[in-house]
Amino acid sequence: MAGFSSQVVAAFLLALPVVLAGSPKTCSNPQTSCKNTTAVSDLCCFNAPGGQLVQTQFWDTSPSTGPSNSWTIHGLWPDHCDGTYDSNCDASRAYTNITAILQSYGKTDLLSYMNTYWVDINGDDESFWEHEWAKHGTCISTLKPSCYTGYTAQEEVPDFFQKTVDLFKTLDSYTALANAGIVPSSSATYTSTQIKAALKSAYGFDITIQCASGALDEILYSYDVQGSVQTGLFVKAAPVGQSSSCSSTGIKYLPKSGTPVSTSTVKTTMTTSTTSASSSSTGGSGIFSGSGYLNAFTSGSQTGCLISAGTWYTSGTCATYTATASGSGFTLTSSKGSCGISSSTFTCGSGVTATVFTASGGYLSYGGSTTFYAAAVPSGSTQQTLYTTSHSVSVSFQWQAL
Ligand SMILES: *[C@@H]1O[C@H](CO)[C@@H](O)[C@H](O)[C@H]1NC(C)=O
Ligand SMILES: *[C@@H]1O[C@H](CO)[C@@H](O)[C@H](O)[C@H]1NC(C)=O
Repeated sequence: MAGFSSQVVAAFLLALPVVLAGSPKTCSNPQTSCKNTTAVSDLCCFNAPGGQLVQTQFWDTSPSTGPSNSWTIHGLWPDHCDGTYDSNCDASRAYTNITAILQSYGKTDLLSYMNTYWVDINGDDESFWEHEWAKHGTCISTLKPSCYTGYTAQEEVPDFFQKTVDLFKTLDSYTALANAGIVPSSSATYTSTQIKAALKSAYGFDITIQCASGALDEILYSYDVQGSVQTGLFVKAAPVGQSSSCSSTGIKYLPKSGTPVSTSTVKTTMTTSTTSASSSSTGGSGIFSGSGYLNAFTSGSQTGCLISAGTWYTSGTCATYTATASGSGFTLTSSKGSCGISSSTFTCGSGVTATVFTASGGYLSYGGSTTFYAAAVPSGSTQQTLYTTSHSVSVSFQWQAL
């Protein structure tokens, strides 16, 4: 049997011309960029000075690029926490073979997605990707080669492009606008307030829009990051220091001539995916460790947090929870005691048997689901009990490390 399986393994390795990568540094209890109150020295676990990561999207109509019913990717920019930014940070890593690097890491699905959604206005995608990587990617502190254990040449490149695409897939701007009646038209005009409100309602935070010749052509979504770009949690944030080039009224949203795609199969709606952690954080404890708050998210916005009995509250101080690795996940305790699910109800207290939770996509997960339920969104002095079985309101929880 041993001989058979090693032959299988050898055949498998020979069949894949793929570079085996090292791994990003493990970050325990990382801080959130732009939200720190004291200096953080380990810039492999904390993005600085480019702490606000901005996923920028284009709507190009002249010439038209990409599908007619989808925005396309511009890039992922590490802006400083005040809107200024560094660019072209490392000439020695300004690679001119992005496609070859992605292929060498076996990223064929990523490349094919990029060929549809990360497209250059002049048709030269490789040059566009090189430009985005050299100008912005090389300025991301957590993507430096020295931040990897067992670094293999250029492995930060697939990490940068994969993360950008993963974020973009959660930011379906076309649908967010269409849901508010804002659709491409050669005659209609929209106001800046209308466009921003539609996107904010989907994203949960303010966004920045840009226009060219009076037509909407770019959207900027801002995140702060808890941990590294590779494995950290992207926490939605309001933009800092960005200005809009759109006028307040008479904004056009011109039609594109491309072929439509079925967006529902490739993208999720923003409201079901408020943040994005790396796919490697599915299962296990992810970023849930040490002390932290359990922040509640409904429809894309943060709405209060959990207090010590395990109930959901919007007008008090969040309780400090402790997450402790256990089995294939972690347990949670508050000052009241262990937290567990009993009779489909989440409680924390002295007589409670601890439940082992996992993390999925940066959210608290139980029994394979990151959705918990309550009878209503809490308001005023009312607390809501959390259930794992269906009730009127769905809510998910993110860890905010302290
Ligand atoms: C946050 O950390 C960065 C990197 O160490 C530092 O430059 C910045 O001053 C810190 N911010 C605050 C408010 O201390
Ligand atoms: C990409 O370019 C770099 C720098 O010239 C080189 O070291 C590397 O081998 C190239 N990678 C591939 C996969 O061609």
